[in-house]
Amino acid sequence: MHLMTSNELRTVVVPAAGLGTRFLPATKTVPKELLPVVDTPGIELIAKEAAQAGAERLAIITAPKKQGIMAHFRTDAELEATLEARGKEDQLAKVRATDGLIDVAAIEQPEPLGLGHAIGLAESHLAEDEECFAVMLPDDLVLPYGIMETMLEVRQRYGGSVLCAVEVPEEDVSKYGVFDIAADSDDPQVKKVNGMVEKPDLEDAPSNFAATGRYLLDRQVFEALTRTKPGKGGEIQITDAIELMISEGHPVHIVVHQGKRHDLGNPGGYIRACVDMALEDETYGESLKQWLEQRLGE
Ligand code: G1P
Repeated sequence: MHLMTSNELRTVVVPAAGLGTRFLPATKTVPKELLPVVDTPGIELIAKEAAQAGAERLAIITAPKKQGIMAHFRTDAELEATLEARGKEDQLAKVRATDGLIDVAAIEQPEPLGLGHAIGLAESHLAEDEECFAVMLPDDLVLPYGIMETMLEVRQRYGGSVLCAVEVPEEDVSKYGVFDIAADSDDPQVKKVNGMVEKPDLEDAPSNFAATGRYLLDRQVFEALTRTKPGKGGEIQITDAIELMISEGHPVHIVVHQGKRHDLGNPGGYIRACVDMALEDETYGESLKQWLEQRLGE
């Protein structure tokens, strides 16, 4: 099937205006998107993932108190000069890793009115001919990188919008947006979706396929968001806007992620992510493994 939908990804919207309440007290002054996984803040990991998927710019939704996020992408000439004078080439390369990686723009969300509201703010920042855009939630670390490339292929094939899903244990469904899967979806990796519900009770959950934080959305979603009433938690939910679009015939598919996924938004998930990535790190991996083995044997 050949569809006339443009498939070019230019903008990745990164909602980063949340209060980080699951990570207090650290997030009282430090935005959770700046907490390091090994040595790199979550927001920089997202920038790398977005650049790798071919995007040209990040539109970061920030809150007035979270200025440090944008500062991370600004050049610090003094720091660079000091590192250069001291011959610290490796550290200099780390500090410069975001130079030229991707353009970064900030969009302020004055009040926490929900994920759907945050995403809606990005509309005026998209060029008129951008027919789709991505959303990457920095809380979700989806490994290995590359899921967005697969999602772009699925949009090329079926049009519409494409989301990333993971299968979660039943007891966890109420933490996620949950998909109602079409009965004839027997492809294990790509499934058509008949509906979507935000954080249902277990008895109401249509499946255990949960939305993880990667969305490839047709720009029609902005119009749907204007018709989306506050839902779960009294907030405008992106899940409800997508459900509305599906009910009006918009094609939505999921790509079922088979790799790893960590939730950086709470200490338990964050620590796992740090350990997981540190074990792969050439500087820290081997000694961490030895120490963990010894520690677990105690
Ligand atoms: C958000 C979405 C939810 C999705 C989740 C993935 O929830 O509302 O549908 O499943 O991200 O991480 P949050 O975790 O921000 O409450």
